[in-house]
Amino acid sequence: MKDKLQAIKDEALKSIEEAKDLKILNDIRVNYLGKKGELTGVLRGMKDLSNEERPVIGQLANEVRNIIEETLEGAKTNLAKIERERKLTQEVIDVTMPAKKQEMGHRHPMNIVLDDIKAIFMGMGYEIAEGPEVEKDYYNFEALNIPENHPAKDEQDTFYINKDTVLRTQTSPVQIRVMENSKPPIRVIAPGRVYRSDEVDASHSPVFNQIEGLVIDKNITMADLKGALEVFIKELYGEKVKVKFRPHHFPFTEPSAEVDVSCVMCGGEGCRVCKGSGWIEILGCGMVHPKVLEMVGIDSKEYSGFAFGMGLERITMLRYGIKDIRLFYENDVRFLQQF
Ligand code: DAH
Repeated sequence: MKDKLQAIKDEALKSIEEAKDLKILNDIRVNYLGKKGELTGVLRGMKDLSNEERPVIGQLANEVRNIIEETLEGAKTNLAKIERERKLTQEVIDVTMPAKKQEMGHRHPMNIVLDDIKAIFMGMGYEIAEGPEVEKDYYNFEALNIPENHPAKDEQDTFYINKDTVLRTQTSPVQIRVMENSKPPIRVIAPGRVYRSDEVDASHSPVFNQIEGLVIDKNITMADLKGALEVFIKELYGEKVKVKFRPHHFPFTEPSAEVDVSCVMCGGEGCRVCKGSGWIEILGCGMVHPKVLEMVGIDSKEYSGFAFGMGLERITMLRYGIKDIRLFYENDVRFLQQF
């Protein structure tokens, strides 16, 4: 029996030494120490031994068991370490490998042009003003000298929130808010969204963007208006562009004008964009009406000023030769990638 135990021990230690992974180690444990294992089989046979032999063999069996258990434990720790090291070398990250290329985002063409416009006016000392898109009827119409029943009020098909509140149809109400809240000299531009209940087509959208301008100071004349807008337009579209002031009417300015530029598509030859005329209208402007000044409590004998307003979509379409306003709102990356 002693020899048998010795043989079991030698065999077990040998197979433990040869074991290549944790699963094999576990099989060895079951084979030798498990309920149906070899060592357990020997221990069961102890009942047939003599009283003298039993404690000796018993002790030896225990020793063998302990040695096998210890060796198994040691081999397990060792194998786990080897396994871990294998994983570490196998899963090593090469930090010098080139990264996966990220697609770059693009600025929206309207944002590019708006930033340019802001930079031009800020260079001339203008500040940026803002006003609410949900606006009082008073600011959108009345304070701008557009009274009840004035045709301008119907022309600009207005979204009404209620009797006194509208979605602003123009950025001009920001003029009133700025004049109410600050003292001349005033020099601001006010970009923002405006709303009109228009059908969507290639040149109309019920939501679009305007940029308003307002200058109030002593001795401001139409020459200042012309000078400021000419500088602006040439910076935006280039020195070669021709600028023309054409008399017009707005209730909040007197005199009023519309500004045309030589067609940026055909250079003034005449094309489909300028409908053969060689000119394109890009903004409305004028000298702030004395009634508007009085409405906000500015003395029209001491102060005068000019105002202007333009559509950002239109200006951007002309800058890049974009033919359909809907492209701005669809955010198709194939369109946006081009800017
Ligand atoms: N608010 C006008 C519009 O939406 C544009 C405009 C014209 C603004 C003349 C002005 C201006 O400030 O002086 O059609």
